[in-house]
Amino acid sequence: MVESQRPRRSCLAVPGSNPRFLEKAKGLPADQVFLDLEDACAPLVKPEGRKNIVAALNEGGWANKTRVVRVNDWTTEWTYRDVVEVVEGAGANLDCLMLPKVQNAEQVRALDMLVTQIEKANGYEVGRIGIEAQIENAQGLINVDAIATASPRVETIIFGPADFMASINMKSLVVGEQPPGYDVGDAYHYILMRILMAARANDLQAIDGPYLQIKDVAGFKRVAGRSAALGFDGKWVLHPGQIDAANELFSPRQEDYDHAENILDAYDYYTSEAGGKKGSAMLGDEMIDEASRKMALVVAGKGRVAGM
Ligand code: GLV
Ligand code: MG
Repeated sequence: MVESQRPRRSCLAVPGSNPRFLEKAKGLPADQVFLDLEDACAPLVKPEGRKNIVAALNEGGWANKTRVVRVNDWTTEWTYRDVVEVVEGAGANLDCLMLPKVQNAEQVRALDMLVTQIEKANGYEVGRIGIEAQIENAQGLINVDAIATASPRVETIIFGPADFMASINMKSLVVGEQPPGYDVGDAYHYILMRILMAARANDLQAIDGPYLQIKDVAGFKRVAGRSAALGFDGKWVLHPGQIDAANELFSPRQEDYDHAENILDAYDYYTSEAGGKKGSAMLGDEMIDEASRKMALVVAGKGRVAGM
């Protein structure tokens, strides 16, 4: 599987400081888990969090989940030790590192270089561990194209709405919901599209961040439905109650998946029947051509990843 296309419909946040949550996360149906050393882990418990995470990764039991650790951002004093302890201790059982509050390409390269050294020193395959880059401020957004291409390790660009809203002074406290007083559209549209374009231009995945009202599943679905409709690949989940909704919203509907497979079959059948001389075909009342085939490939590809 192309690493950038690992399933990530639901990306479950798990605080590294809580061994009980780490254990419980193994059995939940999220596509990805990210074991957090950043904001879910208070400064005093970060050293303990690193140890818990290394133990949990090495114990195994994560089934096919994408296993990610979120380290602290480079402006803190914790990043290097997070990376050294986690990759040295559990580098063989880890898929990606998530780097929060990325502001420029250099920060991604710095992480790449540090991980490369640890991989070499420990006999791990060099370059296997990917990077997930979180965009959480204006600097990160204006540099997002350079961030996306900073290292071949980059697999996803993630929108971090809570920090982003704070950093640009957006007047709302409810993450993902529209700021009061803004009634002419979606205040997040530009940011989401900017991230999506940087991801798509470089064959990376685009992931939407958290929805903090964890009891409000209808609210989660409303906000997740918007980024899913734009073409995002998945969203963070903070609570088991959000997982099924994310898996469903970021998979094609069964009828769309079936339709996509029918388009692909019909297109192949009619165009090959014409000895490669026909560029379009009919599927019932619908005319299909090369562009329809590409759209169908996207839906069918997502459906196959989702096990349809
Ligand atoms: C996530 O890290 C966010 O800030 O929304
Ligand atoms: Mg954040």
